[in-house]
Amino acid sequence: MGDLRSPLTAEDADDNLVQQAELARHAQLVDELRQELDDTNRGLIALHTELEAARAAEARLAAIVAASDDAMISVGPSLLVQTWNPGAQRLFGHAEQQILDRTIGTLMPEAAFDNFRSVVEQIRSQGHADSYQSHWHRADGTNVDVAVTVSPMRDADGALIGFSTVARDITHQLAAQAELAAARADREVMAERDRIARDLHDMVIQRVFGAGLALQSITARAGRPDASSRIHKVIDELDATIRELRGTIFNLNQPTQKAASLRAQVLDETATAQDRLGFAPAVEFAGPVDAALPDETAAHLLAALREALSNIARHARASAAWVTVHAGDELLLEVTDNGLGIDPAVTRSSGLTNLRRRAEKLGGMFEVAGRPEGGTRLRWRIPLTAKSSPHSS
Ligand SMILES: Nc1ncnc2c1ncn2[C@@H]1O[C@H](COP(=O)(O)OP(=O)(O)O)[C@@H](O)[C@H]1O
Ligand SMILES: [Mg+2]
Repeated sequence: MGDLRSPLTAEDADDNLVQQAELARHAQLVDELRQELDDTNRGLIALHTELEAARAAEARLAAIVAASDDAMISVGPSLLVQTWNPGAQRLFGHAEQQILDRTIGTLMPEAAFDNFRSVVEQIRSQGHADSYQSHWHRADGTNVDVAVTVSPMRDADGALIGFSTVARDITHQLAAQAELAAARADREVMAERDRIARDLHDMVIQRVFGAGLALQSITARAGRPDASSRIHKVIDELDATIRELRGTIFNLNQPTQKAASLRAQVLDETATAQDRLGFAPAVEFAGPVDAALPDETAAHLLAALREALSNIARHARASAAWVTVHAGDELLLEVTDNGLGIDPAVTRSSGLTNLRRRAEKLGGMFEVAGRPEGGTRLRWRIPLTAKSSPHSS
């Protein structure tokens, strides 16, 4: 039987070989395909991850833009508003749908718009422009001082497609700077008056006085009575001059007619402490701080602030401090630092005792303590409502 089939078997064997070769080729093809699929899969996964990351970054950016206190506005090449964040709505009062596709010039007077256009021109030619201060206006027509930063927006190929504009309200900052400048100017005027008063006293009065004495010694020797009476008249005039000078000196030593506002004085006090502290304390006001505060209360508050800042400079080894002055039913001064903290067992010496006395004298209270998160918090409060304010003097 084997013999009979032997030629067929030879043929079969050939067929088998061909089939096997084909199978092997298929297997290889399948392997290659599988490999390719795997690669594609990996590529897809990588792409997906990348997309997710890009989406997350975009979402973060959108969240920042939405949450920002600053107005963030993007405009196209012809300066029409394309995006408008809630900060812009809060600052300028236009709702998004009212301002989209309108020119950004809507937000500012003509002169400020000229300025904006020249900043845009500078970005077109030099790729960059510095931040600047400007005067824009709100939907209700009121003005607002803003710090403006304009930056180019480009597409993937680097072509300029518009400008992003960030505007920050600096009204309060400018007001505080102006008050500080006024307080400094006041202080300079006082220093100058002081110098003039001293000069008048030390030099002018002494000279006039000396001249009077010299004349007196001459009358003693002058024989003629008419000459002597004339000299006496001159001496009387010199005496009157000295009295006038004294009066002038007295007036020079009086404070300027309008005392600086409490806010300005608080800012001045903290600015002065900056050298000793090595940093600028942050200052915050709330409520009508300048309204209807008795001078005496204001003076006590400034003294308390001075002592608190001096303690921070001398004892706290802090790198930051916060000053809050809050006027409501009571006047609250809070001074916080991030330094070593205060030992509760500390035996209070003159400074802190003095703060307590000043507070109690005005019917208020004083407390100082370490904070759980480190540093020291000092609170000094005085009632402002008429009936709970028993202080006299
Ligand atoms: N901000 C502060 N941080 C750390 N320690 C403070 C602070 N303020 C006060 N102290 C501590 O309280 C003590 C008493 O302060 P004070 O009565 O003002 O007296 P003085 O400043 O003359 O030492 C200080 O010597 C200091 O040890
Ligand atoms: Mg002290």
